[in-house]
Amino acid sequence: MPVVETVGPLDERRAAPSPAASDGAALRKFGALPVPSLEWNAEVERQTARLYERIKNVVPSVEWPFFAPYVKAINAIKKERNAVILAHNYQTPEIYNCVADFVGDSLQLAREAAKAKADVIVQCGVHFMAETANILNPEKTVLIPDLEAGCSLASAITGEDVRMLRERFPGVPVVTYVNTSAEVKAESDITCTSSNALQVVESLGSERVIFVPDQYLAKYVAAQSKVKIIAWKGSCEVHERFTGDELEMIRANDPSVQIVAHPECPPDVIAASDFTGSTAHMIDWLRKNRPKRVVLVTECSMADNVQAELPDVEFTRPCNLCPHMKRITLPKILDSLLYTKEEIVVAPAVAEKARRAVERMIHLKS
Ligand code: 13P
Ligand code: SF4
Repeated sequence: MPVVETVGPLDERRAAPSPAASDGAALRKFGALPVPSLEWNAEVERQTARLYERIKNVVPSVEWPFFAPYVKAINAIKKERNAVILAHNYQTPEIYNCVADFVGDSLQLAREAAKAKADVIVQCGVHFMAETANILNPEKTVLIPDLEAGCSLASAITGEDVRMLRERFPGVPVVTYVNTSAEVKAESDITCTSSNALQVVESLGSERVIFVPDQYLAKYVAAQSKVKIIAWKGSCEVHERFTGDELEMIRANDPSVQIVAHPECPPDVIAASDFTGSTAHMIDWLRKNRPKRVVLVTECSMADNVQAELPDVEFTRPCNLCPHMKRITLPKILDSLLYTKEEIVVAPAVAEKARRAVERMIHLKS
């Protein structure tokens, strides 16, 4: 059924997230490490050759001398710090393939963060992901290499907005996409990701559900459910730029092309696609179906990462870059590990409430 109502002053709150500032406690606890050599030489080439093999069809060999010394240094310091690197599927190939310990979509990264045993979790993704890691594993030191790595969805709604929605729709449960601040999660009944949004909405047994903040994910869920959905006017600045018309044009040129889209895309894009799913579901679909040509209607680095794994699949543009995900770079990851920054600490009272909503999602039976 269509979304019954879409609420929200979408007042361009898209700049930076409201970052949790580090008070330097982590640096005091761990101390700074000596800066490693970042020289490119035959020994570095030899030691990193196995890693370059993984990305050689997406990263030109002229770029490797810049990346390799960082890759070597990060992998060494990771061990010294007892750190684990979690990377979202939108991270660039040299991060995703050469320094990450775990890669995945938002749900997979949240699960890894919850069970991480290392002392330090470096979140190569965006701010809300690092907050989620801290909420689920408050004993650990959670770092994000760039504090300004935000998200247009997370900036589209505040805790106060959720309280306003609860007043306007009393008794209606609130399902919150994980792409939100800890403050918003703390005001919610349960969180969801793009992997499980339909399942979460239907798990509540409610006739009506408030679903925030992604209006397009809300429409995608509503189209598959009898639950009446009240949506919020947020959107992903990367996925909202795709259009159904551009995809139809590509298909007209090559009817055999497969179109695979993320559910943060507008409905006309989803209607023009052969498959819709979270980033992890998109990758699984490609592994299983191995199409000859594909348009991956999502962030550009994901096509590079899948291409590195499936060299026989041809990826056709368009794709759009997420400026927030692209703030994470190898030099910043190295600094993050060397100087234990930027630490993300969610205020305990907020974290406790947010944890209930996130854990309720994680423990949902699939
Ligand atoms: P998933 O990886 O969970 O599909 O989310 C996509 C996204 O935009 C994360 O910021
Ligand atoms: Fe946020 Fe969209 Fe970037 Fe994901 S791709 S982090 S939803 S702005």
